[in-house]
Amino acid sequence: MKKIEVKLPNNSYELLISKGLINNIGYEVEKVYKGDKVAIVTDENVDRFYGEVVEKSLRSQGFNTLKMVLKPGEKTKSMEQLLELYDPLLDFGINRGNLIIALGGGVIGDLTGFCASTMLRGIPYIQIPTSLLAQIDSSIGGKVAIDLPRGKNLVGSFYHPKAVYIDPEVLGTLEKRFLNDGLGEVIKYALIKDRELFDELKKVQGYEELLEKIEDIIYRCCCIKKHVVEADERDTGERMILNFGHTIGHGIEKLQNYEGLSHGEAVSVGMYCITLNSENKGLTAAGTAKEIKLLLNKFQLPYEVQGIKKEDLLEALAMDKKNIGKGMNLILLRDIGEAFIHKVSGKDIEKFI
Ligand code: GLY
Repeated sequence: MKKIEVKLPNNSYELLISKGLINNIGYEVEKVYKGDKVAIVTDENVDRFYGEVVEKSLRSQGFNTLKMVLKPGEKTKSMEQLLELYDPLLDFGINRGNLIIALGGGVIGDLTGFCASTMLRGIPYIQIPTSLLAQIDSSIGGKVAIDLPRGKNLVGSFYHPKAVYIDPEVLGTLEKRFLNDGLGEVIKYALIKDRELFDELKKVQGYEELLEKIEDIIYRCCCIKKHVVEADERDTGERMILNFGHTIGHGIEKLQNYEGLSHGEAVSVGMYCITLNSENKGLTAAGTAKEIKLLLNKFQLPYEVQGIKKEDLLEALAMDKKNIGKGMNLILLRDIGEAFIHKVSGKDIEKFI
């Protein structure tokens, strides 16, 4: 079992990473929670594989459980769905001394975390992320949110889990496209902070080898996330580097109504595109974009997208909540493994898109 402690002034918690952990959730929860009621929020896809395993494990430790199974997909991260969670939780008799578990990918984690942060002004929650993206990114660092019709994550808060339990074995039941989605973010971590990881990914022959090494890869990504979150919990400085590739990526997702490229795919295009432009401006070591393209190709991740006009992308960016005021913080690479924040004025943004 690998352990990482996220150390924050008011919220320290452990990430446990271990193959087969999903089967012993009750045992782990018992170490950090002394109450009786546990509400589990999951989706239909995850429930089919792991709902019963988790519920049984909790019950075998004497916990009284309630399981709520939602529709899978981004549309579930809505205000309507959020409102539908509160009543069953109240009927269950939940109180601030109880526990909520988010069992699923990023959508379930974000929605459940936001529900936990608002229900009765805050109920402790635990993340059991079941997608690669959630295991290395969204379950760590306390960003919880729902979407509004005009954009993603527009209502939310910073609310850290009590623990994060990561079982790399659950990725075996993930469709390849969802695995790829997370791989886009793995490559992002390598690009912003870990040249060695980038070189290792280059050596990986295929999916089988990738899955063999995935526990170590997850561990390395979680270590990077831990350090970045500890340095800048509220996302006003260094944490912004986690958004490498996301400025363009978010714009693409929005213009495709979240029904085109997946998040990881859109970020892949964003990472390549912004690096190509910053390289041309002499801000990034020559050849970096080409190296990124080769690695993306290897994992069948896109580096370009058809049918999106630059003007539309710029307009979509203007709506993004991170584009504060007239300027914008772009995340660029000096080289592979070394990201930096580059402030640009409104009129200069287009030179990087
Ligand atoms: N996913 C970006 C962050 O946690 O800041």
